[in-house]
Amino acid sequence: MKVAVIGANGQLGTDVCEVFASKHEIFPLTHQDIEIADIDNVKKVLGEIKADAVVCTAAAHNVPKCETDPEGAFKINGIGSLNLAKVSADLGYKLVQYSTDYVFDGRKQKPYVETDAVFPQSVYAVTKYAGEQFILNYSERHFVIRVSGIYGKVPCRAKGGNFISTMVKLSKEKPEVRVVKDEILTPTPTKEIAKNTLSLIESDAFDVYHMTCEGEVSWYEFARTIFDTLQLKTPLFEASVKDFPLVVKRPFYSVLENANLKKINLNTMPHWKDALTAFLKENY
Ligand SMILES: NC(=O)c1ccc[n+]([C@@H]2O[C@H](COP(=O)([O-])OP(=O)(O)OC[C@H]3O[C@@H](n4cnc5c(N)ncnc54)[C@H](OP(=O)(O)O)[C@@H]3O)[C@@H](O)[C@H]2O)c1
Repeated sequence: MKVAVIGANGQLGTDVCEVFASKHEIFPLTHQDIEIADIDNVKKVLGEIKADAVVCTAAAHNVPKCETDPEGAFKINGIGSLNLAKVSADLGYKLVQYSTDYVFDGRKQKPYVETDAVFPQSVYAVTKYAGEQFILNYSERHFVIRVSGIYGKVPCRAKGGNFISTMVKLSKEKPEVRVVKDEILTPTPTKEIAKNTLSLIESDAFDVYHMTCEGEVSWYEFARTIFDTLQLKTPLFEASVKDFPLVVKRPFYSVLENANLKKINLNTMPHWKDALTAFLKENY
């Protein structure tokens, strides 16, 4: 298969390119090569490539920045997705678009399945959900994949790092580190997402998917595992979300159940702890 990868130098895009290259011909596209908010550009670039599929990892996902620039966020997350859906449908491409656990409000307090009602709480989340809907309605051969708390070997370009690099940095700079115990999710390495996306894209099971590691963990417990594994000596303390100003509303429980992947026997996601241990061993 020939696969165009948008956001190829991003955190997830880098791993998608590497993992997919083992089996398919890859066309890596950075923001310099394509602007998803511009339909003429999308038509031109994807039309010239003549691929079979496009995987989009591009998004406006600096969450506080989206709040102050809703139009800019909608242009990329909403209209960008609409453009990709229309052009993919015209060209007969399969389309993968990544979305987010933030489409939920967190009140369920039990793992969310794909059919659960959404209630996005922020500009970022609303625009990502709009993107999902555009893709479902304007293209047929689509995989909309919701991920959560992602981390990879290259920093997230929109946020300038990930949770692990932030913990390592804080442990070096601060006398103590405080992390929230009452925000629960399932952090997931981009390499595992790339691997599971590869098996999914080879199928014709077009649908919405949750794709996160197994299990659930608070950010504090996740940080504790990082500190213990890397033997960071700086004291680490539990905190509450109430101890920090709430810059943007977000779900404090956003565990996703990979129900649709399991239904088609394609769930390859490991437990969060095994994935974290492997990532730390490989990268630190
Ligand atoms: N980070 C998380 O924890 C998290 C959680 C849930 C879901 N997600 C989703 O996961 C996906 C991947 O995130 P990531 O961390 O890999 O992001 P990233 O590192 O910021 O990479 C995004 C890539 O897309 C490019 N891009 C941005 N706007 C573009 C546009 N308008 N047209 C074309 N390319 C554009 C960026 O290029 P430039 O930097 O040069 O603009 C960059 O190469 C996103 O859809 C995000 O919403 C992330």
